[in-house]
Amino acid sequence: MSSDTLGFATAQIHAGQDRGAAHGTRVIPIHLASGFAFDDFDQARDRFSGDDVGFSYTRMGNPTASAVERKLATLEGGREALLVGSGQAALTVAMLGLLRAGDHFVSARHIYEGSRGLFRENFAGFGIQVDFVDDIDDPDAWHRLVRPETRVFFAESIANPRNQVLDVPAIAAVAHEAGVPLVVDNTFATPYLHRPLEWGADVVVHSTSKFLSGHGAALGGAVIDAGTFDFSTDPERWQQLDHARHGNRAYLTYIRNTIAGRLGPTIAPFNAFLLQQGIETLSLRVERHSSNASAVACWLEKQPEVASVDYAGLASSPSRAVAERLYPRGNGSVFAFTVHGGERAAAALIERLELFSHMSHLGDVRSLILHPATTSHARLSEVERQQLGVTPGMLRISIGIEDVADLIRDLRRGLDAAATVADCEPMRQPARRHAIARG
Ligand SMILES: Cc1ncc(COP(=O)(O)O)c(C=O)c1O
Repeated sequence: MSSDTLGFATAQIHAGQDRGAAHGTRVIPIHLASGFAFDDFDQARDRFSGDDVGFSYTRMGNPTASAVERKLATLEGGREALLVGSGQAALTVAMLGLLRAGDHFVSARHIYEGSRGLFRENFAGFGIQVDFVDDIDDPDAWHRLVRPETRVFFAESIANPRNQVLDVPAIAAVAHEAGVPLVVDNTFATPYLHRPLEWGADVVVHSTSKFLSGHGAALGGAVIDAGTFDFSTDPERWQQLDHARHGNRAYLTYIRNTIAGRLGPTIAPFNAFLLQQGIETLSLRVERHSSNASAVACWLEKQPEVASVDYAGLASSPSRAVAERLYPRGNGSVFAFTVHGGERAAAALIERLELFSHMSHLGDVRSLILHPATTSHARLSEVERQQLGVTPGMLRISIGIEDVADLIRDLRRGLDAAATVADCEPMRQPARRHAIARG
């Protein structure tokens, strides 16, 4: 049966499975192997030349990882996928497949802080320049930053931490007009809620450590290529890609063999197996995550201790119109809210919670909470934090799949504690609903 005809819930279980290779088991086996013996002399030669696509060494490919790659490519509507050891590795590999010293790219400013640091500091060290866009859904803002050396546009489909939603078709059109691909980090949305490749993006990256796994037991990352961006129109610009030989597999082949294969961020076969176990229940979890998050966000917005809630599912969100058009199934479950009383109130809230885990992870079946200003964004200056809208009273939550009444009860406890501290503050912060920092 072709996986193109399967519904999402069926594909998340069956796509990518090779019944023959599984020796009767219906669970993808774990191939704990560094390398694979060649049948004969010619096969070794062919595997190295690429004429035979079988396995040779796990850094280049592994049967367990490969089954999960096929599944992810199907779920995202892509041509081919590459699995690596973490989300950061996926982003690094995806971008270094398109960028070389002297190149430039344009990125949304509102992205995971680790990705921003990678772009600003590590990539700058490689001679790659980046410009950041504040108003991510303004096509002109992207267009204005394009230079002759621009090679990529990058953004998150739902931005970490403040929930701006990318208008993928609008920004993909600007990227294509500039002759460059649009790479989208789809970690917060997952392919169940949104498939950027179907809306015009060219490459999707994931931290599979999050919703795709769901169990919070293993890191992983994925790059999924639509195989539709035509690199052959400007061979000078994309010298690293062998389009003549590999056709629309040129980009994925390059990042597998020459970028990931050399830098070496290989996913362990056991972690690929754990990821696969998570993906099989993705749609059920994400439905529940989204309905829980929607209920919590609505409830939070009505609480007097809360100054603002940044959730794309709320009518008051500036991203609501884009979300309604691109996200018919729900809006995910990671978002920010801000309490009156600043850092002391935020700290009191966190300390009082019993169910929420205080950690920097997200997309887990368990509900999680983090105070970005003193953790993920602590290295930034006050001005930079303000630009990103990361205020002292802001908290990021990742709503899990528990009973929502229990989560609301826990947050009530936290808000009561925050109110005690906030009452002692000389002045409350002014109410700000959904103001997105514009730089
Ligand atoms: C949107 C997003 N992308 C990428 C990453 C990095 O993923 P990993 O922790 O798997 O390296 C994160 C981590 O929180 C993230 O939130």
